[in-house]
Amino acid sequence: MKHIAVLTSGGDAPGMNAAIRAVTRSALDQDMTVYGVRQGWQGLVDGQFRQLSARDVGGIIQVGGTFLGSARSAEFRQESGRSKALRNLAQRGIDGVVVIGGNGSQTGSYMLSQLGIHVVGIASTIDNDLLGTDISIGCDTAINVTLEAIDHLRTTGSSHNRAFLVETMGRDCGYLAIMAGLAGGAEVISTPEFEVPASEIAQRLRAAYERGKTHAIVVIAEGVKENSTKILSYFDADKQRTGFELRTTTLGHVVRGAPPSAFDRILATRLGVNAVKALANGDTGVVVGWQKNEVTLTPLPDIVGRIKPVDTELLELARILAK
Ligand code: F6P
Repeated sequence: MKHIAVLTSGGDAPGMNAAIRAVTRSALDQDMTVYGVRQGWQGLVDGQFRQLSARDVGGIIQVGGTFLGSARSAEFRQESGRSKALRNLAQRGIDGVVVIGGNGSQTGSYMLSQLGIHVVGIASTIDNDLLGTDISIGCDTAINVTLEAIDHLRTTGSSHNRAFLVETMGRDCGYLAIMAGLAGGAEVISTPEFEVPASEIAQRLRAAYERGKTHAIVVIAEGVKENSTKILSYFDADKQRTGFELRTTTLGHVVRGAPPSAFDRILATRLGVNAVKALANGDTGVVVGWQKNEVTLTPLPDIVGRIKPVDTELLELARILAK
């Protein structure tokens, strides 16, 4: 394998830049030519390629987001779009592609690998909903940003005897909410997998208030049906339901844009280097992940279109520790 391309796709995640850097420099070390593709799958369709040198990926390991840009491409999902992408790759003699992204992106990887191009995916999404890895690039940083917000809200909550509803990202997966909630000592965590109804949230807050707590935190994952606005209007109907005065904070994209944690930089580095190794070994149609403290390769058909289940024991643990 002599010429490879690297792209980032889907929602950006802290550590994507560190992964691009690792892919580029380890490929250059193996005398490969590396092309960066702008704007994810769309750039592959439109022919937005740029050859990358070691210097081009300098000074980015500490920067969140992706300097290549990212996009969700409807065109690549059409056969005509994929044919254009194939032509663009063939023109440059590129026979290997590294795709850094989450669930939707790795579905694209699978499609491309079916067309005879060697494709290796790198697990990267703040949602951590991708199978084939215990943890995805970006998730650790997103947990820490959510946690920092929880800590701040707890401090001000304590001063004013308030409870806060904190809504974090995660799409249909509650992992981010569970981990940040556990680390932040949340009184309640509600996720798409185990949604806590507003009436039960009220009961738990009331109980916390009666136990003499001066603050309370409810972490809500974005994918729940009863989101923070709905919960707030339920509580507004009867202010005595919880004891506490209530406020809500929706974190949204704030959790996605932070500089990557040390963990995410190291994970991205490990996965990036091993993606290039996989291509050099002739592997294709696989995702590089981190499982049981080791780099692993998992066939894409085993993971695409599925969501990794969350560990429900952690939710029970959080409930017990909120006493
Ligand atoms: O998949 C990452 C993610 O940040 C999800 O947590 C969230 O649901 C989604 O992307 C938001 O997408 P967009 O950036 O397109 O609004």
